[in-house]
Amino acid sequence: MNVLGIETSCDETSVAVVKNGLRVLSNTVCSSLNFHSKYGGVIPEIASRMQLETITQVAQDALKVARVSLKDIRLISVTSGPGLLGSLLVGISFAKSLSLSYDIPLIGINHVHSHLYANFLNALSPRLPFVALVVSGGHTSLFYVKDFHEIETLGETQDDACGEAFDKVGKLLGMGYPGGPLIEKMATLGDTGKFKFQCSGTNRPLDFSFSGIKTAVLYKVQGKKLKLKEKRDIAASFQEVVIDTLIRKAMLACKIKKTKNLVIGGGVVTNNRLRVKFLEEATGIKCFFPPRILCLDNAAMVAGFGYQLFKKGQRSGLDLTAE
Ligand code: KG4
Ligand code: ZN
Repeated sequence: MNVLGIETSCDETSVAVVKNGLRVLSNTVCSSLNFHSKYGGVIPEIASRMQLETITQVAQDALKVARVSLKDIRLISVTSGPGLLGSLLVGISFAKSLSLSYDIPLIGINHVHSHLYANFLNALSPRLPFVALVVSGGHTSLFYVKDFHEIETLGETQDDACGEAFDKVGKLLGMGYPGGPLIEKMATLGDTGKFKFQCSGTNRPLDFSFSGIKTAVLYKVQGKKLKLKEKRDIAASFQEVVIDTLIRKAMLACKIKKTKNLVIGGGVVTNNRLRVKFLEEATGIKCFFPPRILCLDNAAMVAGFGYQLFKKGQRSGLDLTAE
């Protein structure tokens, strides 16, 4: 069964065709990132305008690469939230118009949940149930996944998302947007123990807080002309503490839920240091990471996740709207 996935929750416009929730036949991603870099963050109006201009072409490309036409599509799965409102509405409106014109069932899915599904594409699947950690630019959440339609939120960030903290610290260190990959690069030459940063505590042990550590970095850099070595040490010390916090909380969630399977997803999971540390330090836990190409926002994960929910009997009507 071929599913057309549509993802427009942030700066990407992505359309994919995935067969039976597993085989990615195409996954076209068009990003407006270059247009946002100079502003230090995503400008919603620029993102939605670009999405409106590109979505038809991106969809045509995805169908062409997959060597299918719309009459071969059995389901349209679209991100309905959370995300930027204008951007989400572009994808949803496009999905609804295709659904109506070609009489194809429609399903709206949760973007954060779909990130964990990137682990199930073209790969040996982790067994249900499992604990999932999603770390992206907009979200940081721990879930207990009994089944794809039974996802319990165990904890989430109380302020900044993990990727957002990387982006803000990157900005403080004078880097472009997004800061995550640039911090990682700079950290490889830095001393992880040079600065004693820490993430703030939270009332509930499985929640996260990243705004305090960002402020600590701000105080460290404010009004100073930092040498390259200092910047590298700050990047390395910051990154290390953030990753340690993610590992500690994810391990606690596995312990509470008595599971040894941990599925990790989201843009921050492209970070190599994060992967290495999880594998080294999450002892007794089997960690699953998506292929790097599927960590950032893409429609293949949306198509695959929608397929699973559709199999459980879920679907949306033409009243589907952005959440
Ligand atoms: O999942 P994603 O594409 O978008 C959201 O759903 O938010 O994640 C984007 C985030 C950005 O904050 C970016 O800085 C971060 O992922 N990121 C990284 C790395 N690559 C991307 N963070 C840390 N290290 C990286 N290598
Ligand atoms: Zn995302």
